[in-house]
Order: sequence, then structure tokens, then C-alpha cells
Amino acid sequence: MLCLGIETSCDETALALVEDGIVRGHVLASQSDVHALFGGVVPELASREHYRFLGTLFDELMSKVNPSNDIDVIGVSRGPGLLGGLLTGVAFAKALAFGLGARLIGIDHLRAHLLVAGLDVNLPFPSLGLLVSGGHTQIYRMDAPASFSLLGRTLDDAAGEAFDKVGALLGMSYPCGLIFDKVSKRGTPDNKLFSKPYLNNDNLDFSFSGLKTAASQYYLQNFRDKFPQIHFDNDLSKVPQAICDFCASFTLSLVETLVEKIKRALDYYPDVKSLVLAGGVAANSTLREAMEKLMRERKGHLFVPPPKHCTDNAVMIAYSTWRLAQIGYCHDLDMTTIPKGTPIPEDMKTC
Ligand code: KG4
Ligand code: ZN
Repeated sequence: MLCLGIETSCDETALALVEDGIVRGHVLASQSDVHALFGGVVPELASREHYRFLGTLFDELMSKVNPSNDIDVIGVSRGPGLLGGLLTGVAFAKALAFGLGARLIGIDHLRAHLLVAGLDVNLPFPSLGLLVSGGHTQIYRMDAPASFSLLGRTLDDAAGEAFDKVGALLGMSYPCGLIFDKVSKRGTPDNKLFSKPYLNNDNLDFSFSGLKTAASQYYLQNFRDKFPQIHFDNDLSKVPQAICDFCASFTLSLVETLVEKIKRALDYYPDVKSLVLAGGVAANSTLREAMEKLMRERKGHLFVPPPKHCTDNAVMIAYSTWRLAQIGYCHDLDMTTIPKGTPIPEDMKTC
């Protein structure tokens, strides 16, 4: 079964072909240069760039792979994301499905981030899924490729957003996560500097905006005048030690909060023995080490997709398409597109 995946939910235009669970090819055009000028993604510009690139990228993918079989299923990110970008991808997918007589499946972008962990390994179900990205921080119980339950989510900032906002204040360029990680590794964390936010409850939700504000205030009061311009370029040895320690403390507080909530989820669901960690922040070295340690202690398993499949990509969409199509699911051509903040309906039908 040959499945095409299309991803246009944010600032990457990407397409991939997965055949019977194996990646046949993928193409991606990043718009980060366009948006870097504005310090964040500009939705209208993103839609225009998707519109500009989709056709060319599709041709490029088809000539690269030169598949001998017709495309059976077309899967597309239907949400959550920026509505204009999603609509561009969904309109393209529907037209293609109609023209080729292929099946259409609208893919939940967030579930796809987690499901792609099963691309190269046999992912067990049930598993817990922790999705940590620039826009989302969510815990799922994953019972099957088509059966996910949302157990917890951030009430305000996402984990990546917290790294990005504090990093930007320090003078790091957007997105700040990777450089924040490297600077943190040079520091010694003080686990009393910042508290672990939103643990005094019994739920699995997160709230990172207080931690972000506390870190910002601390920086403004203690470091802004002392270190007016910090250079985060190639030579990180020039970053003041106090700043490295500050970053390490912030990272520790955020990571330990994520770990505490996952511990809690494992306690609430003792039948679950594995954890999938996905999304851009899954690349964070402190987070990975902490989750590996936790799952070792719990005699369970941690699954983390490779970095290229943690950030937005179309392989995760094509792979999820294949997993769902295998079970026999599809959508009609009137499938809706779902912007961020609106729940994705369970409206797949059996074809
Ligand atoms: O999943 P992703 O590529 O895009 C979406 O947000 O959908 O995630 C990007 C986020 C950014 O906030 C970025 O700063 C963060 O992931 N990130 C990291 C690291 N690498 C990327 N955060 C912490 N540590 C990292 N090593
Ligand atoms: Zn994403």
C-alpha cells in the first residue's frame, strides 16, 4: 500500500511516500528564513509559502521515488496548526485524492508525532505519549494507532515556548531550544532557584508560564545590567558561567516537572510500561537522560524518534496514514480542517 503524506501545519512544507511501512522518499522546504526576520511564524506568509511550494515538491518527490504503483492513500495534517497553512495542504490533498481516485485520511498532527516512533521499532500498545514541542505539551494514553486519549496538556505556554521566550530574552536566536540545551550543559543547576510548577494537584496538566515569568524576572534583576550583550555564537565558552548555571537551573525545573507528571501517569495507569517522547523538545539532552532514567527505574521502555522525525516532517504523516489505512480507515472529501484550540473529531469511517 503506497501512502502519500502531506504536512503544512506550521512553517515546513513537506511530503513523503511510505509503502507498506517503509519510507520510500521525502522532501521538505523549510520557511524558517522567511519567518526569522519577524521572530516567529507569520501565518499569512506561511500559507503563501506552502501554496508556492506544494506542487513543485510533489513533482520532485514523484520523480525522486518514481513509484511503480499508484498512490493508494493520501494522508494530510488536518490539525492542529495554523488554519491557512492547513487549508492549503488539505485542499491540495483533496484535489489529488479526487484526481487519482485515492483514499483520503486527515491526520492528527500531534498523534503523528508520537506514532512515528514505531517506524523502525515495534511500538507496544498501550504506551504513554509525551509530546513536547514549541506549540504543545501533552500527555496521551496510546491504546492503538487509532485510539489515543488525552490525559493532560499545558494550560498556557508549551515547554518549547518557555525555552524560546527565556532564550530570546537572553539574546539567543529563535528557535532557542538547541542553544539553550548546549548552554545548560555547561552550567551547574541549582534545584532551589526555580520551583517545579503546577505539581500541587493530582492532575496531569502543565503550566509553564509562571516558571517563564520567574526566570525572566530573575534575569532582569540579576543579569541584564551585568551582561548587557551575551554572544551565543560558535564559541560558547565565552558565555558567562552565571548564565550557564541559570539556564541549567531553568532546564532542570522544567524537565523535573515533566518527569513528575509522567511518574504520576505511570502510577495512574500501571498497565502501561512504555513511554514515547516526541516533538522538538524531545531533542533536549537533559530531558532524554531524565526520561531514560525514569523508564529504567520503572523497568519499562522509552521510545524517542530520531531527531529528523521529532521536528515537523511528512514521514510521520505518511507513516500514520499507512497505520490507519491498514486498519481500513478513511475520510470523505468533505473532511474538515481543524485549527489550534479546537478538538479534532473522531470522524474517520471504515472504507
Ligand atoms: O516540534 P517542533 O519542531 O515544532 C513545533 O513546535 O511544532 O518543536 C520546536 C520546538 C522549539 O520551541 C525549539 O526551541 C524546541 O522545539 N527545541 C528544543 C531543543 N531542540 C528544539 N528545546 C529544548 N532543547 C532542545 N535541544
Ligand atoms: Zn509539530
